[in-house]
Parts: sequence; structure tokens; C-alpha cells
Amino acid sequence: MSEGTSPATPPAPQPIRLEDYTPPAWLVESVHLDVALAPSRTRVRATMRVLPNPDAAAGTPLTLDGERMTLLLVSVDGAKLDAGAYDLTDSSLVLPHLTEGTHEIVIETECDPQANTSLTGLYQSNGVYCTQCEAEGFRRITYFPDRPDVLAVYTVRLEGDAAACPVLLANGNCVESGTLEGGRHFAVWHDPHPKPSYLFAMVAGDLAHVSDSFTTRSGREVALGIYVEHGKEDRTAYAMDALKRSMKWDEDAFGREYDLDVFNIVAVSDFNMGAMENKGLNVFNDKYILVRPDTATDVDFANVEAIIAHEYFHNWSGNRVTCRDWFQLCLKEGLTVFRDQEFTSDMRSRPVKRIADVKTLRAHQFPEDAGPLAHPVRPTSYIEINNFYTATVYEKGAEVVRMLKAIVGEDAFCAGMDIYFSRNDGRAATVEDFLDAMAEASGRDLSQFKRWYDQAGTPDLVVSGRYSPLDETYELTVAQSTAPTPGQSQKAPLHIPLTMGLIGTDGEDLGLYLAGETSEDGATERTLELTQHEQVFTFEKVPSPPVLSLLRGFSAPVKLTTNGGEKDWLFRMAHDSDPCARWEAGQTYARELLVAVTRAIAAGEKPRRGTRYADALRNVLTDDSLEPAFAAMMLDLPGEAELAQHIGQDVDADAVHAARSHLHKAVADQLGDLLLDRYAQLQSNAAYSPDADQAGRRALKNACLRVYAGLGNENAARLAATQFASANNMTDTEAALATLTHMARDERQAAFDSFYERASGDPLLLDKWFSLQAMSSREDTLARAMELAKHKDFSLTRPNTVRALVGVFAGANPVRFHAADGSGYRFLTAFVRELDPINPQVAARLLGTLKTWRVYDAPRRDAARQAVSDLLSAGKLSEDTYEIATRMIA
Ligand code: ARG
Ligand code: ZN
Repeated sequence: MSEGTSPATPPAPQPIRLEDYTPPAWLVESVHLDVALAPSRTRVRATMRVLPNPDAAAGTPLTLDGERMTLLLVSVDGAKLDAGAYDLTDSSLVLPHLTEGTHEIVIETECDPQANTSLTGLYQSNGVYCTQCEAEGFRRITYFPDRPDVLAVYTVRLEGDAAACPVLLANGNCVESGTLEGGRHFAVWHDPHPKPSYLFAMVAGDLAHVSDSFTTRSGREVALGIYVEHGKEDRTAYAMDALKRSMKWDEDAFGREYDLDVFNIVAVSDFNMGAMENKGLNVFNDKYILVRPDTATDVDFANVEAIIAHEYFHNWSGNRVTCRDWFQLCLKEGLTVFRDQEFTSDMRSRPVKRIADVKTLRAHQFPEDAGPLAHPVRPTSYIEINNFYTATVYEKGAEVVRMLKAIVGEDAFCAGMDIYFSRNDGRAATVEDFLDAMAEASGRDLSQFKRWYDQAGTPDLVVSGRYSPLDETYELTVAQSTAPTPGQSQKAPLHIPLTMGLIGTDGEDLGLYLAGETSEDGATERTLELTQHEQVFTFEKVPSPPVLSLLRGFSAPVKLTTNGGEKDWLFRMAHDSDPCARWEAGQTYARELLVAVTRAIAAGEKPRRGTRYADALRNVLTDDSLEPAFAAMMLDLPGEAELAQHIGQDVDADAVHAARSHLHKAVADQLGDLLLDRYAQLQSNAAYSPDADQAGRRALKNACLRVYAGLGNENAARLAATQFASANNMTDTEAALATLTHMARDERQAAFDSFYERASGDPLLLDKWFSLQAMSSREDTLARAMELAKHKDFSLTRPNTVRALVGVFAGANPVRFHAADGSGYRFLTAFVRELDPINPQVAARLLGTLKTWRVYDAPRRDAARQAVSDLLSAGKLSEDTYEIATRMIA
């Protein structure tokens, strides 16, 4: 650039595309890392054996990824290179003369863990050194081909101050340790399993630990350890138990055994995501390890169990069989979520777990699929891969595996999993490898099914049924379509498993006889396979007009519209033999009621009170045959965000809030005394246990409180305040606060003050204190959130706290976040701007909470678009946040 010209705008970050994949030019056989830990100057000496990949084009210079390090030395086969012999950029190190042969490369670098607030690479959390390498953090530790299809055997020698870091951990088994001069000591860890760099981990610090052991089915004894901050040992028992149950379950359900002598888990307080499956050394957000009845809710306990299982299951689905490239992320994440969902279903109640997963999918994935951030389960391009650890890749990815199982059947699915694991063990695989294994085991053609991986958007199913009394047939017409999503205007029909039944007038399921089929088995439930835009199924021998029960077990992630109405919903709320469909009948009914109430309020008409709906809930409350956890879910009205999605355009968030409050109050009015009775009956003096039965009874009790509180009166406030004062477990404490938080009453302030006293010094409790205030529907919540962002216990460097305050405000408080004047949006984008230079990953994810903005009305849309474009023009953003912001308003 010549003197006097204005500075050019930096080039926009370029996307990486699946279609450009090429195999690595160089492979790494082994890596030996020598790490000398120091808070601001950690030295890493990497010795690696590299060789050209026989399956790639020959003659390519060795190119290594690396960023945010100081390069101190490069040598090849013992000879130090001078600076002219390599090319160093901000993101790579190239050895132009190295184009063939096997070599030993030594690289010395220095990095600054203390200053690393991005929490990727090597960083410190409360003085503990730890690493996060997925997806591309290893390149901040040393120069390396940092891609998942380069698998190497790692040996790590850690050296640090013995007093500051009595614990030194890395992947695999500890093979040597000892003391050194100057108060230092060392440990050498060796992991015999070749692995990609994203599974590398090391941890060092002053940590306490609890140990246990597990004997695998072939008799291998595995030493288990959970490392936590001193004083937190008494919050690890549940996690340890969950780990042992996970190890056993994977042997029983999938035939997968653990493969090292040690399995360690470390809990750290600053972590970008939930947890990480590093080989033999899982690192967790401590929120998903540390639970005790007085500090954690039933939901927290269940999350610990599920995430422990998830990370452990990755040992096979992710580590032994890894991903060829990051576009294949769903191959490990979707499959592993499916596996952890199955585990939880076996440990707890299968129907309740399924409904909970459907709620999550609908709350997070459907809006993603319907908005500007929509992408296929296997995306085809990205700027920053960390932006694709999404509900679509994880949760819809799990739905795809579940559908596959429904289509090929249990036996073929199990056989297919065995083929997949054995054929791809030690390999970096693709979605095609997974589908090939399933196709081979089942003999099915899965080419149309594969579209689920490539096509974004939630399919719409429109189903109508017609009964013909003359020939006693029932004709089902099913049409499928998917709305356009960014970059995909045309959608092809998908292969959809639709599980269904027909219910007779007596409430019993009818036998199903499909016309044109020879077998006469008359099963009462079956899975229809949809493959066309429109299909007709005719059932015979139907003696009287049936009630249609569709999408049993939520057999596919679709939006369903039927020609049934109030009568059908009421009938199925009482009689559907499938719990998921039964729950869904209530949700459909409530959604339609809420839409009608929203319209009535807007038109100045008198809104309905939902009398028949309340009656149906009355039956739920008095039916002792129902599982309490299920009854609790039946009592839940669909949320405001879900309603906004359902309405789909020009939504007035205040009107939706008013409608939901109206129906909530109407139901509370009609069920009042019954709610109080059930609430009283469900009180228990039993010692707290986190098991599913007890948790289910607490869930129903607290649902009664929540519904009753819809009255918003003195009585409700007193009830909640009493529960707060007398609770002997965090579940009841939190439920009381979650009720009080919306109220404008003195009891509220007193309870929050007393909770703060109790929480002080305990970040996990303080985070609850932040989030319970951020979710309040009170009009002063934004002002309060702004105040809390300046509170002494708030910090931009702690992702959990950021999520508890700003994440909850933007993601779980629709009426205040989507304020018509745009104040909620501006709060978010201003916050993101401040956070972005500190932690781009968390900033980008927070900004993502705006993804539903297009369904709102014009003033809101204008404000949202303005807030995001202001953010884009306010100064340089990280690639993470830049990518989300540009897609958001594209
Ligand atoms: N693989 C981890 C899991 O179990 C997620 C880690 C992702 N971390 C990240 N910074 N992208 O789901
Ligand atoms: Zn995972």
C-alpha cells in the first residue's frame, strides 16, 4: 500500500467447503510433547515423525497449522533451520523444501495460558492449566497438521512447579513421574491409541480427586478418577456412579468396552461448552460434575448423568472411530447424543425422556431450522467450525439416527452398528461410511434417507384421514414439503418413518390392516414409510370411525398438521396409548387455544377461558395411573417462544405473553383447589434422592405450584415463599424462586436476598441467582439485567455466568428480550461487542440467540436488523461473531 491511500478494509473471511476436501499431504506417526508449564510463558517442544501420505498427491511441502504462539526453533532431522528456510504466517508454518521422505521435526514454541481468555488451546481456569483442542485448539499449543484425519500416537512429558501443580495429567496411562530441582516435578503420559489432535488434553494444577474402579466385561481393571477443586469432593459421587453405569451400559447395549487402564475426568469452572471427550481424560464444565442435593436440582443431576454418559460413549463413537473432517461432525455428535438418550431412557423413564427430548428439539432445533442460521445436519461450508456445534448437528443429528433405527429395525440397526465400529476402528470416517454399514446390515437402499444429512429445514406433514363406513376403510393422505432455507430453495421429498395407530371409540387401539398387504397380522401400531410428496394409505377392517394417532414416539422431526380438532385432542389426551402422542395432543390443543386467545386479545374481544382444556388437565391431575413426571409435562403450556414460531410471522411478543398469561390464569382459576390438594399430597419427608421416581413427584408438585401461581395473588406468593423457606433441596428452592421471580411482591426480594447470602462464594449457585432474575417476565428485568452485568460477582471471563445472565435473558425471556422498542436486542449486541475480543466462541453463540428475529413484527424486525448491522459496522469482529452476524441478516 502506498503512502496516502486509505487503509484497505481487511478481506472478508473465506468459507471452507466440503467439496474442497483433499486428504492430508503429510501424516504424523508419533508426537512427543515436552511441556514446561509457566503461567505466562509455557514452553512446548514437539518432536514428531512425519512422512508423506501415500494416498495423497506427492511433492507437497510440509505445512503446519499454528496461531498465537511464539516460534522459538524449528529443526529437521537434527539440523536447526534458520528463518529463511521456512515460511511463517499468522496461521501456518511451511517448510518449502520438505516435500518427501520420513523426517523427525522438532518445533519449540511458547504460549501464554494466563492471558488466554478464549478458553481454546492451553489456558488457566482458577489457576488450573487445562486445554480445549476441539475443534482447532491444538494449533495454539504447537505447529501441527491440526485436522481430524491425521492420527498420531502421543507421548507427553509435563513439567511444572510441584507446589502450584501437584497434579499433572494427560491422555492415556502415566508411565513415569519424578521430582526435579528447584521445586519442580514431572510426569510422562503415553496414549497407545492413535488419535487426532483435537482429542489431545493436558491438565495441571492443585486439584483434589476421588477414585474408584471399574472392571470391564473382559476383566480389565480400570482406575477411575474425578479431579475437582479442593473442597468439592463431596459433590462428585453422583458423577462417579453415572460413569460406572455408562461403562456397563455401553458394554451391554452396544458391546463396547473401555480400552485403557485409566479414565480420568477433570471439572473446571471456565469452559466454553458442556464437556470434552479427550481420550482417557475428559474435561468437564464443573456444572456438569458437581451436584449435591442442596446445590443442584433434579434437572442438574439428570444433566450430569447424561453428559458423563455422552462423553464416555464418545470413546467409541468419536475416538476409536473419528471424523474425516469437520463437516462430518454429526457422525460423532448425532450418534453420541442418540446413544446418551438411549442410556437415559434405560436408566429413567423412556417416555418421559422422549418427551423431554422433543421439547428440547422444538425449543432449540426447530427455530434454528426455520431461521437465518438454518443448515443441514452435515453442513457444506463454514467460516468458523465452532459455530456449527448446534442443535441441528447434535439434536437433529440424533433424530436422524433414531429414524434410521425405526426404518431398518432393531436387529439390523445393531448389526449395522457392529459393522460400522469394526470396519472403521482407528479410521477417520464419513457419514457415507455410517450409512454403508447400515445399508449392508439391513439390505435397504438408504440413498433417499441420506437427504436428511444434506437438506436443511423442518419438513411439514399435512395428513388427512377419511373414514368410509360402507367398506369399513380408513384412508390416510399424507403430504410432505419443506420450506426453503438459506442457500437451498428447492427441497426434495425425504424418507420419513411415520409411526401411527388408530384408536377405536372405546379408547382401545385397533388392529391395522393395510390394503395391498398380504400379511394379516393386525398389529396395533406401525411405521409407515413416506418417500413421496404425497402418499395414500388405506386401512381395511375398520369397524367405526377411528381417532388417528400419529407420530407416535415422535418418530420423525417434523411439524404435523391434521384435520382433527378439539374433539380428537381431548380424546387423545385421555386415551392415546402412546405417551408422546398423548402429550402432543395436549400441546396441539393448547397451541391452538393460545393462538385463538392471542387473536381475540388483539381484536379486543373476550378471550376463551379454555374450559374443556382445563377439564382435561383436571383428569390428568386425578389419574393415579399416570407417571407423575409425565403428568407434570402434561400440565406445561407451550412456551412463548414456541408460540411465536408456531404463529410464524409478524408476532407481537407482548400479545403472545398476554395470551399465555391469560390462559395460565384461566387454568389456575378453574383448577385452583385441586392444584393445592395435589401440591399438599405430593409433599414428602423422605430423604432426598435424585432418582427418577422421586424427581418425578417433585416435578409434579412444582408444576402444581407453577400453575397455581398463574393466579399471581397473595396466596400463590405465600405458598412459594413458604416453600422457599422450608425446602431441604435445591429443586424445591429453585422452583420457589422461579415462581416468585415473576411477581411484584415483597416475598420476592426477601427470597432473592436470602438466596444470594447462601450462594456467596459458590459460582454455581450465584449463576442460578443470575439466571432466575434474568428470566423474570417483570417489566424491569432488562434494567435489572444491566445492573447485574455490573455486579461484582459477574465476569465476562466466565462463560457459565455470561450464559446465566445474558444467555438466559436472550434465550429464555421472550417478552423482555423481544421488547418492541429493540432495547433487548441492543443490550445483547452491545454485550456481544464487549465480549467478542475476550471470548469469540461464547460471543458468537450468544449472538445466535437472535436467530428467531424474523418471525416478529415490523418494529421488532427493524430493531433487530439495525442492532446486528450496527455490531458489524462498529469495528473488527472475530471470525466467529462475524459469521453469525452476517448470516443473521443476510
Ligand atoms: N465434543 C464435545 C462434545 O462432547 C464438544 C466440544 C466442542 N467444543 C468447542 N469449542 N467447539 O459434545
Ligand atoms: Zn459430543
